[in-house]
Amino acid sequence: MIILGIESSCDDTSAAVLEDGRILSVVTHTQNEHVEFGGIIPEIASRAHLKYISEIIKKALKDSNKTLQDIDAVGVTHGPGLVGPLLVGVNTAKGISYSLGVPIIPVNHIEAHILANYIEHDNELKTPFVVLVVSGGHTELIYVKEIGHYELIGKTRDDAAGECIDKVSKMMGLGFPGGRIIDELAAKGDNDFHRFPRAMSDTLDFSFSGLKTSVKVFLEKHDQEFLKKNINNIAASFLDAVTDSLSKKLLKAAKVYKCDTILLAGGVSANTMLRKKLDRAVKPKKMKLFYPSPKYCTDNAAMVAITAYKKTQMSSINSLNVMDMEAVPFLRLSE
Ligand SMILES: Nc1ncnc2c1ncn2[C@@H]1O[C@H](COP(=O)(O)OP(=O)(O)OP(=O)(O)O)[C@@H](O)[C@H]1O
Ligand SMILES: [Mg+2]
Repeated sequence: MIILGIESSCDDTSAAVLEDGRILSVVTHTQNEHVEFGGIIPEIASRAHLKYISEIIKKALKDSNKTLQDIDAVGVTHGPGLVGPLLVGVNTAKGISYSLGVPIIPVNHIEAHILANYIEHDNELKTPFVVLVVSGGHTELIYVKEIGHYELIGKTRDDAAGECIDKVSKMMGLGFPGGRIIDELAAKGDNDFHRFPRAMSDTLDFSFSGLKTSVKVFLEKHDQEFLKKNINNIAASFLDAVTDSLSKKLLKAAKVYKCDTILLAGGVSANTMLRKKLDRAVKPKKMKLFYPSPKYCTDNAAMVAITAYKKTQMSSINSLNVMDMEAVPFLRLSE
């Protein structure tokens, strides 16, 4: 079975081709139109998706040595995300599905981040597991009894970790999005330079807004020369606080839910310090830790294609009336 995956929920326009569970190609265009604003502008994102989506799909097909006529089904992110960007992907998928007479498989973006782990670990990865979804808009702990059954067991009460990292990056004058930049600076810095706060240590919920304020106060207290000299150390100390909260709560959740398999998913799971801390923690415990390659952590259509494929394996895809498919900006995981 050959599936075309399409992702357009935020600022990445992406298409992928999958054959029988194996990714043949993935092409992603990350919009740089938002850099000057320091955040995503929904209307600009929608227009950029519209501009790039056809070329991206054509390139994904070309790279996989397939044509549109080879496609057996189209998988598309229909939520959660920004309504304008979602509509571009959904309507493109509808057009392809209708013209080819093939089924359309609606995919939940967060489920796709989780199942991205199956792209490279299909043989070893077994349910049940606890997954930490940590991205630009989400920081959630989810107990997965089996694929399709998701129990939310912890979440952020304010900012998502990625949102906090991006805002701190902006405060430090490092640019947007800040995740990769702060990751690279932190690798050259000292985690113990300054102790930033770790919030809500007793629960499986997270909070990052206090940490964000704490960095702001720290930056305001020191002069430019000091900050410039210690930029790597500040990045390392800040990320140490973020990754301490994330890793400790994931391990705690695994203990509470008696799972020896844990997963990372979403853009922030590409973070080097987070991966290292968890790699180190699971080693003596005989636990299994999985995370996707960095290119499958941030938004991409390969994760959409694999999720659509898993859905076809679990139940026969009823030929959904393509006209019934809608973009659902606040789609929840269990829906
Ligand atoms: N190496 C890294 N270290 C830390 N954060 C990172 C890294 N790479 C990317 N990020 C962060 O990941 C986030 C983007 O992830 P992703 O594309 O999954 O989010 P999103 O799609 O915008 O949000 P959501 O999936 O919640 O809708 C950004 O906040 C970015 O700064
Ligand atoms: Mg995402």
